[in-house]
Parts: sequence; C-alpha cells; structure tokens
Amino acid sequence: MNDIFTNCKLKNGFGPTVQASAAATSPTKRPLSPDHPNPALPITETPSPAMNRMGWALRILLVADNSSCLKDRKVSGKLIRKCAPGTELVDWLVNLSPIVHTRAQAAGMWQALVEEGVLAHVNKEQPFKDKCFLYRFRLDEEGGTAAAGVPQAEDLGAANEHIREGLSALFQRGPDATLRMILRKPSHERTSEELELVFEELVHIAALSHLSTSIKRELSSIFVFEAHAQAGTILFNQGDEGRSWYILLKGSVDVVIHGKGTVATLKTGDDFGKLALINDAPRAATIVLKENNCHLLRVDKEHFNRILRDVEANTLRLQEHGKDVLVLERVAKQRGQHSAFKYTVMSGTPAKMLEHLLETRLGQSVGGMDPFLDDFLLTHIVFMPVVQLVDELANYFHCDAHEDAQTPEDREYIINFKKRVIQFMQKWVMAVRHAAFEEPSVCDFIEDLAAEVEADPDLNEETSIVHNVLTQMARYQEDRNQNAGQKWKLPPNGQPICLFSGNATPSKTVIRPDDDIIFRVYCADHTYCTLRFPMHTTAELIKACAADKLQLNRGPEDLVLVEVKSNGERSVFKDNDVSIPTGLSLNGRLFVSVKDHLDALTQLQEQEGPTEGVDIDLEILSTKELAYHITLFEWDLFWAVHEYELLYHTFGRHHFGKITANLDVFLRRFNEVQYWIVTELVSTPSLSKRVGLVRKFIKLAAYCKEYQNLNAFFAVVMGLSNMAVSRLQQTWEKIPSKFRKIFQEFEALIDPSRNHRAYRVFVGKLQPPLIPFMPLLLKDMTFAHEGNKTSLDGLVNFEKMHMMAQTMRTIRFCRSRSLGLEPPSPKSEGEVRSYISSFRVIDNQRVLTAMSQKVEPTRKL
Ligand code: CMP
Repeated sequence: MNDIFTNCKLKNGFGPTVQASAAATSPTKRPLSPDHPNPALPITETPSPAMNRMGWALRILLVADNSSCLKDRKVSGKLIRKCAPGTELVDWLVNLSPIVHTRAQAAGMWQALVEEGVLAHVNKEQPFKDKCFLYRFRLDEEGGTAAAGVPQAEDLGAANEHIREGLSALFQRGPDATLRMILRKPSHERTSEELELVFEELVHIAALSHLSTSIKRELSSIFVFEAHAQAGTILFNQGDEGRSWYILLKGSVDVVIHGKGTVATLKTGDDFGKLALINDAPRAATIVLKENNCHLLRVDKEHFNRILRDVEANTLRLQEHGKDVLVLERVAKQRGQHSAFKYTVMSGTPAKMLEHLLETRLGQSVGGMDPFLDDFLLTHIVFMPVVQLVDELANYFHCDAHEDAQTPEDREYIINFKKRVIQFMQKWVMAVRHAAFEEPSVCDFIEDLAAEVEADPDLNEETSIVHNVLTQMARYQEDRNQNAGQKWKLPPNGQPICLFSGNATPSKTVIRPDDDIIFRVYCADHTYCTLRFPMHTTAELIKACAADKLQLNRGPEDLVLVEVKSNGERSVFKDNDVSIPTGLSLNGRLFVSVKDHLDALTQLQEQEGPTEGVDIDLEILSTKELAYHITLFEWDLFWAVHEYELLYHTFGRHHFGKITANLDVFLRRFNEVQYWIVTELVSTPSLSKRVGLVRKFIKLAAYCKEYQNLNAFFAVVMGLSNMAVSRLQQTWEKIPSKFRKIFQEFEALIDPSRNHRAYRVFVGKLQPPLIPFMPLLLKDMTFAHEGNKTSLDGLVNFEKMHMMAQTMRTIRFCRSRSLGLEPPSPKSEGEVRSYISSFRVIDNQRVLTAMSQKVEPTRKL
C-alpha cells in the first residue's frame, strides 16, 4: 500500500499530543480528543534529539550575536527573559544562511522548532508567525544552566559546526511544518494562500486521486491534522458511532475485530473509517496505533456527508491478513435515501459478509427487511451451509465468552451484538419460513438463545422476538409430527398421488424429504418391481435395491439408474441424485440397467399412449369452471414450492442432497396441461368437435389470464401453438376471426423474443396473488447461474446471489396475498375437479404429429 503514497510530501512530522497508553496488545481508549488541535502547541511530547540539538545551536548563535534580537523584555509589566519577535527571528535566519531565500521559508523553519516544543510563543497562543509576537527557546523557559550567560568559545564552535551540517535538514522540514500548522488551524482562520498551499499537497495523495479539483479545494479547508504519540492508542472502537474519515500520513495502525484480533495493518497512504459513514452503521473494527508518532488527516462526518459521500470511489475493498475479504461497490440511490448512493456487497468471504451484515443491516430497526440481508438469507445455502451459519452466529452471540473484565462500554457493545443475532434469527425465519427449522442445529441454537435471553436482564426487550421464533418453531415441529409418515404414490401414468397425509387441507400438502413414495423400477425386459422409499433416497440406493429385487446379479458399479422417456430418450441419474420419482418426465419410466447395455433399453408400449385420466366429453364442461379449478389446483401446487427448490434445481439437487419434489410436480403440471391440449385435439377425429375444442381452449387461456394463472395460460397457448396443432389447417380455417385475433394476442404475449419482454411488461403490472410462468423463472435462475461464477478469486460472487434472490423474491411476491377467486356458478364441480387433477396425456411429439396427420392429412398441392 505504501506505493500509493510515494508522492505525498506530507511527511517527516513527529509525534503526538496524546498521553501514553498501554501496549498495542492491550489497547486502551484514546485519552485526549484532538478534535480541536491548537497549532501553537507541540505535536510531540518531547523534542526529537535532532531538533533539540538544532534549537540549542541556533540559540547559542543568537545569544553570541552582539546585535541579538534575543533580549529580556517586559511585557504587560512582566519580565520575560531572552525572547524575540517573530519578525526579527526571521530577519536573523534569512541573513544567517544563503539557502534561506524567503521570509516564508524562514518562518517554516522556526515553526518546525515550535511544533516540537523547542521554541514557543511566550503565551503559548500562537504558532510561529512572521509578526511581532514574542517567542523564546524552551531552554530559556526552563532557565537551566545552559540558559545563563555568554556562550563559551567551545560551544560556539560546536554550534557553528552543527548549523553548517544541520541547517539544510531544518530547511527541508519547513514546508511540512507550515502545512501541519495550517491544517491544525480552524477552517475559518486559513488564508487563501494557505488553502492554496494545502491544495497543492492534496494533489499528491493517492487516496484522493479519484476526486475532482473542486472537491480537493473544498477539502483543503476542512482537513484536520491529527498527531498521536503512543503506539497502542485507540483511535476509535468497533461499535462506536462513526464520526470521521481518516488518511494515514505517517505511521501504521492495526484493524482489530472482536473475536478475531488484528485482521489488517494499514500503512502510510491508506485510508479508513469510511464504512461507518457511508452505511450509517457502527464502526466495523477498532483502530489501534501500531507505532509511536502517527500522523493522520481527518474529515469529520458532516463535511464527509456534504462533500464526499456522493463522490466516493466506486469500489471499496476490505482485507484481512493480506487477502480481500469484502468488496463493496457503489450503487445508485433508492428513493427515500438521503444520499445519492450507498455501497452494496459485490463479493466476500461468507464469514465476513455475515459480519458486515450483522453490523450494518441489523440493530437499528426491527422493521422492514434489508435487501442485502434478504439476499443473504435466501441464498446462503449455496456458499455457507446452515451448520456453518449457526456456528458463526453462536460465536458472535458468545463473543464475550473469553473476556473476563468488561467495561460498561464493552458490555453495551456485546449486548448490541447479541441483539443483532436475535434479530437475525427473526428475519431468517421470516425470509425462509419452515426451512429454517429443518436443521436440528438451528433448533438447538434457537433454544440456547431463548435460555440466554431469559437469563439476561439486558436482553429483556428481545424476549418477545425470541418467543415469537420459538412459537413458530413449535408450530413447525407439531406440523411435522402430525404429517409424519406421509405417503405418496407415483402411478404408472399421471401425477404423484398423496395416499396419506395428516394435513387438514390435503390439497395443500407439501412433499417432505422423509415422505415415502411408491414407484416402479423396470429393467431391460420390461419386468418391474415396486419400491417404497423416502423422497430423499439417493439414486444409488434405489438402483441397488431394484437390482436386488429384479435379480440383476451385478455389482452397483456396473449398474445405472436411468429414465427412459416416451420418445426413447435416456437420461442417466447421478448416484447422489435425490427425489428421483418426482423428477421423471410425464410418461417417463425408471429403469435399472447394466451400464454397458444402456442402448438395449426401449420404452414400454404404454408410454406411447395417453396416460390414464378421466375420459370425459369436454364439451359439456364449463370453460370458466375448468379455468377456475385448474387455477385452484395449481395454486396449491405453487404454494407448496419452497424458494430454495429453485436453487436446488439450478445448482443440481445432488449438491445439496435436498429434494425438489414440489417444484418437480409443479413443472410436471405445466407439461401436463400443455400436452393435454395437444392430446385432446389430435385425438378428436371430428372436425367440428376440434373447432369447438380450439375455441374452448382459447377461452380457457383467456380465463386463466383473467385469474392471473399465467403458468396455465402459457401451457394452454403453447399447447395450441404446438406443431401438431398449428398444422391443423382445416380446423383453424373454421375458427372465427374474433377468436383468431385473441389467439394472436396471446401468442404475442408468450413471444420469447427480447427475453420474454411482452410477458415481463404484462406481469410487471399485476398485483398478487398470481401464478407466474415458472419455466421462465427457472430460465432466469439458470441464466444467472451459467453466466456468472459462484466464486471470484476465492470470494463469493454476491452479485450472482443477488440476481438469484431477485427471482426467488418474485415467487414470494406472487404468493404474498392468498387466492380468493370468486367461484363461477357451479355446473359440474365434482366432475371438473376430478378431471383437471389428472389429464390424459401423450408427450411423445412424434406420436402427436402422426396423430395430427391422421386426423388432418397434409393436403396435396
Ligand atoms: P469503519 O467501519 O468506519 O471503521 C473501521 C474501519 O476499518 C472500517 O471503516 C474500514 O475502513 C477499516 N477496515 C480495514 N480493513 C477492515 C476489515 N477487514 N474489516 C472491517 N474494517 C476494516
């Protein structure tokens, strides 16, 4: 970091005005606030040997000079020994050496002695000025032997010698001393020439290089110089309110974090203390001086907010132990914020992001959900498993465990931290609901928290939050017990059926990882066995068990579990895949096969035909009632999908060992509706009936749109646009133009061009409840996943997590109000309900096209 400061000329100052403090290992609070520095006072506790010696030599020469300006004078009736006016000291120095050309140079050299306390204004009220103010040497103030009498020849010789050798060093220090003097004056006392001087120096500071000239000019008048003497002095503490931003001009500081110790050392040219100002958050770390005599430039918060806050650098990087741990980037203002921008997390290590979140996004208000917090809660399973998150939270909560003596300030800090962890738990449950309770480690942690909150009077206010979380946890556990032993069946054709559920509203039954499912596994000769396994069972176990039952007599390494689709396509499961049965395509079948004999697998005859469903004359069913019940049915399926399932689906459920059964069923339903439309049309030989059906389906799409079931709307319109349907020329010719026009509008709405712009604009105007077109949400997830790395230089790419969370939030938004549709007047409610719950479907495009050809052979030209 040093190199960014190589051109900075503000250097060579000497230490501090603050009192001594403890060693760096046990930092103590800053004892003296240098908020209003006085340029008349020294910046060091004692002069450096070099300046001491220079002061001695100059004084000897002055005293020896017959026409010396150093005289005893009476001021306001009081005798002051050996003092001289600033103007005469300047005259004398200009005459002394040819290297001193100007009065300003000489004044700077005298100020270099003033700032170390070698020379001082007689009343300690003025820095060195080329004016009539009186100054005298420290030696004369002390009145020691050196002060008395005419100097010996020997001393005179030594003084002359020293001046010859050392004056140029003093000469070089002059400009910096002048600058420090200006920077210690109150803003309003800085003259325009002085501001110009400061401005010229600021140009060389790398930490300011991104700022415009006009901003640097403004900074010239508000920068304050601070000097600190002792290593170990605390500049500010983690958790303090942020009041200033600093640039380190000389020396180094340690960045210390509770529970971690020193995480970074900042050097000359580095800046710090911006984070708290930008985020309006408490200090993220304690800053401890690592060396004696550190020099800093300071900008106080009100000026920072006025001048710098909105023009700050685009990227902010925090390091720990030499490695980036958090990268923040400027984002444009959101409405209602008083600044034009704020910083958002771009990437970071999981633990640092959590720490940043706890310290900047919690604690102030328990109200709304912060977007960064929400993104983190929705996506942390990708980069920070629940167990690790709980561990980190427990560490934060117990950050006082190793600290014996606590000052009241420490205690306040620790209590704040505990409060934040409790608030985090509350928001966690709010964001992901029951999923938060699925890990036993989370439940244990919540119980620990509850016990600690009960026992700690400082956490009284948090009791209601903890009770609320406990109640939700108890409700989840009760619900889980009630539904223990839930059982499903995947019929050879159709949707999974719930055989048993303790749920009071069976339609809203969520498929859980330990629910059993009964399904078939075939082998190459089309014999099969029926298995019953929990949903989360791996492909490996299913394979082994099926092979055993089907007496394949091969080791598991020779076998694969594979889906054979109705078109004969095969897709092999990974050994660690879970929720296998629900993941099959509509008419797909599960096979166990010898690896080398995959090619021998053929689909079953029955896979070509329609699935079993209610055979009914569609004409007699009310279209509105169909749309209504389709929407109710799909709402329940949509309701059961957890946002996490989108992540499992996108990253691959085998990465998480988590099931995606509810999402699988919902996606299956989309295909089912789509192929139902096609199947019905191509299996209706009568032209007039087909025409009636097309009209009915267009109306069905219109009702689905009206009910805001866009998933079914897409499925129906896509079904009608399927090649096997769109080629039915005779049928379409007979569709009234009014219907054709409506259908064209629908097709325009599902048009995928410009990334489904038409649909996105349309859906963007809707209010919940609504059922979104789920395949597009999954496409957005996949796009975000495949277009962006999860990890960037060892840090989590949080921008990617944000993109994914946006999509997951769409689902939350769609369900944020419950469905309360006005039911159409029932005509055949029971029949409609059972009809729509399982459609008869052929999903083999080749078969559908052949059937289409059969009902309407291609016209010969
Ligand atoms: P702020 O939170 O205002 O005060 C402490 C400062 O330490 C912080 O701003 C950063 O500027 C600086 N800092 C440097 N490295 C780190 C780090 N790894 N974690 C937190 N703060 C850091």
